[in-house]
Amino acid sequence: MQAQMPDLSARYPNLHVSHHPMVAHKLSLLRDKQTDPKRFRELVRELTWLLGYEAMADLTTRPKPIETPLEPMEGAELEPPIGLVPVLRAGLGMVDAMLELMPMSEVWHIGLYRDERSLKPVEYYNKLPDAATVQVCLILDPMLATGGSASATVDILKAWGAARIKQVSLIAAPEGVATLSQAHPDVDIHVAAVDRELNERGYIMPGLGDAGDRQFGTFAGPGSEPGHGSDETAEVVRRLQRSLAGD
Ligand code: PRP
Ligand code: URA
Repeated sequence: MQAQMPDLSARYPNLHVSHHPMVAHKLSLLRDKQTDPKRFRELVRELTWLLGYEAMADLTTRPKPIETPLEPMEGAELEPPIGLVPVLRAGLGMVDAMLELMPMSEVWHIGLYRDERSLKPVEYYNKLPDAATVQVCLILDPMLATGGSASATVDILKAWGAARIKQVSLIAAPEGVATLSQAHPDVDIHVAAVDRELNERGYIMPGLGDAGDRQFGTFAGPGSEPGHGSDETAEVVRRLQRSLAGD
């Protein structure tokens, strides 16, 4: 089926969808079911590099005196201390690319998984120190589906004291953009694409399947196909879709 990608940027000014042709090219390779885990991981890294570059376009710099081989000049250095917050486990594949861009960043891991029936995020790991040590946090998670994991991560970071938060994802569903934007309109969302919709199992359509399984090769047969589905799951998705339609 030909995907109709909704344009939500007018409704959500915090949403930034990349229009770079290299992003579109690499994202298609990533989505392709023939792409094996090794290539999938490479593409996640390459796309994160490109999206990260765009997501950091509004960071400030301070003057830094340097000397070229020919003469002194005023250079620039990134001002705010930056924290990378990969959401385990699928966000792990995005960390190295961001560290290549900003080697001085701190990395703070948060572990969440989606309960398969309720689609609610369940926190199982949190390595944040007691007080916030960074000013700008970039949440790294390839998929923004219902938006539950992203909203929960922002809640955790705000309670921690993070001043500015951006979400960097590869693919978003309209339902997830709406959920996160309504809960946290101050959080910028940077994505390679907004897809058509969630299916009744809470998976992004057309999407790419399960980002964690595809990166780490954890397919255990048909039982591990994206989502097992239940009446409860379908009702959660219908509720999100009603909320999006009445938005
Ligand atoms: C995936 C993904 C997000 C979450 C998005 O993680 O990496 O964290 O789902 O879904 P949401 O927007 O509906 O909350 P998953 O729960 O599959 O865990 P995994 O990364 O360990 O595979
Ligand atoms: N998590 C994924 O990995 N893929 C989806 O489509 C939705 C949530």
